[in-house]
Amino acid sequence: MAGEYAAFHRRSIEQRDAFWREQAQLVHWHRPFSQVLDYSRPPFARWFVDGQTNLCFNAIDRHLDTRADQAALVYVSTEVDQEKRYSFAELHVEVNRCAAILQSLGVARGDRVLVYMPMIPEAVFTMLACARIGAVHSVVFGGFASHSLATRIDDARPKVVVSADAGMRAGKVVPYKHLLDEAIRASAHPPEKVVLVDRGLDPGMPRTPGRDLDYAQLHAAHANADVPVVWQESNEPSYILYTSGTTGKPKGVQRDVGGYAVALAASMKHVYCGRPGQTMFTTSDIGWVVGHSYIVYGPLIAGMTTILYEGLPIRPDAGIWWRIVQDCRVNVMFSSPTAIRVLKKQDAAHLSRHDISSLERLFLAGEPLDESTHRWISDALRIPVIDHYWQTETGWPILTAVPGVEQTPIRFGSPSFAAFGYDLRLLREADASEAGVGEKGVVAIVPPLPPGCMSTIWGDDERFVRTYFSTFSTRQVYSTFDWGVRDADGYHFILGRTDDVINVAGHRLGTREIEEAISAHPNVAEVAVVGMADQLKGQLPIAFAVVKDAAQIADAAQCAAAEKEVMATVDRLLGAIARPGRVHFVNMLPKTRSGKLLRRSIQALAEGRDPGDLTTLEDPTALDQIRAALQGG
Ligand code: PRX
Repeated sequence: MAGEYAAFHRRSIEQRDAFWREQAQLVHWHRPFSQVLDYSRPPFARWFVDGQTNLCFNAIDRHLDTRADQAALVYVSTEVDQEKRYSFAELHVEVNRCAAILQSLGVARGDRVLVYMPMIPEAVFTMLACARIGAVHSVVFGGFASHSLATRIDDARPKVVVSADAGMRAGKVVPYKHLLDEAIRASAHPPEKVVLVDRGLDPGMPRTPGRDLDYAQLHAAHANADVPVVWQESNEPSYILYTSGTTGKPKGVQRDVGGYAVALAASMKHVYCGRPGQTMFTTSDIGWVVGHSYIVYGPLIAGMTTILYEGLPIRPDAGIWWRIVQDCRVNVMFSSPTAIRVLKKQDAAHLSRHDISSLERLFLAGEPLDESTHRWISDALRIPVIDHYWQTETGWPILTAVPGVEQTPIRFGSPSFAAFGYDLRLLREADASEAGVGEKGVVAIVPPLPPGCMSTIWGDDERFVRTYFSTFSTRQVYSTFDWGVRDADGYHFILGRTDDVINVAGHRLGTREIEEAISAHPNVAEVAVVGMADQLKGQLPIAFAVVKDAAQIADAAQCAAAEKEVMATVDRLLGAIARPGRVHFVNMLPKTRSGKLLRRSIQALAEGRDPGDLTTLEDPTALDQIRAALQGG
């Protein structure tokens, strides 16, 4: 790679401090930092040491002089047929009131607040209110059910949980409060208070006197709240966001304040090319990292209007997103490959029915973008469609085109080049040496990780080092756990995960977590979950279970009933997003002689591929059973 961007990237690595000192000017510092980077304790990086700033101040207060009346947040719900618009001044008022509510409940700097909410404005207010007072928010995706929620409550130990009576999905009520109550009952460290936004969607919402409080009542009691910003040292934690890995226990990705603010501001400028006063529409959910970075903090820090959309991409029809683009004059859009594949199956006329001339770029991330979908949406929109690759851990793009610096040609199916600040390598698994052109390698980052990336795993520094920096014995590098390859022009292609994480419609799930949930079913002795290629969702989990009592699944009808029960168990514990597409019953699972489950071989069979080297297999008939189960349908 040569050219302007290559020089920009090189400078970010070779003159790291000068580069980031410059980018740091994009945000407000209450007190300037004394050191750009403290890397005295590798691999822990401390950015902008001693600098004092605040994410909420940068997202809201800083804009009040110049854009108080500009829309900051536009809420569009096709679930409850509502639209609400908050200017920066109005958002300031709401966030102050919410911050006062939290303070009145004893929430102070460093305390955790867990947010389990649908896509409603109060969720954004709560996140920003936490940031304002230096509290650490942990948003849990609304699609997660009680067990997932309980493990997160126990790990983060929030003082307060903010939730709602219910959400709506495809016109159906999702009872958040019921799920929350179940999680709190299962939790070893229940919160002191629960604040509930009552949307009037679940009249039967249970309330626990003394613990459960009403958001509207508290809101009324803090009408003229003016809560001073808590200036935080750049490296204090801003939030925890849980993500799946190889073990059943999700990892709390901990983010800082100053590094995150700078990384977001720099990415908004150079990657997304979002200018103050423009509008960004990110179709993700606040429960995911994309929502944190590019629904809430990124656009607001950049002085943009952000759209918060509660609804599906095809309801009331497949033109809804383009209607929003038209009505809100959206300039920058961010979505996922699965969503585009869903739209691709619908009538293409939906696109031409709306005036989408304001749209400058569409960014896609979260899962591999296949070439044909990339081509289809590019042709349909006639604007650059940029595939970019990143992770919850990094908080902002790792691989991307950087059109704010140089308009490099797009190559379909490729997330282009390493983003500035990332010293990215493709390493051979065997000896950590650099893979050649066209050769598959582990996508790795030579530390220090740039600003904005995770500081550590919440409460577990040791696990941070062990998980992410110990893939190679000879070299301490950060592993993304993805395979990648680079072509002769320097374009990258992502080839899938190196670990047991799967990606269902852009949702990252650990197969171990799903296996643990299925094992909770009383008749399941053992289970293997693998991700199987799926045309629409990228991957779909499928399960192979060994039952304790085979007499209970003696005929087809009993098998079908048992399959439904297992699926219901996953729904109840983890949420429907983790539900396996199929549950097959077998007598044994293929394992090595040392007892290790051969997930890769099962996955290969499920996808009709060669199962690979089977010399270590304990009992070859186990694989025959998998084959037979798959053929049996
Ligand atoms: O496997 C990669 C895949 O999604 C993982 C990260 O998921 P998550 O933590 O949910 O963060 C999503 C942030 C956008 C990665 O390890 N992935 C993400 N983007 C791409 C991708 N795979 C291929 N191409 C992408 N553009």
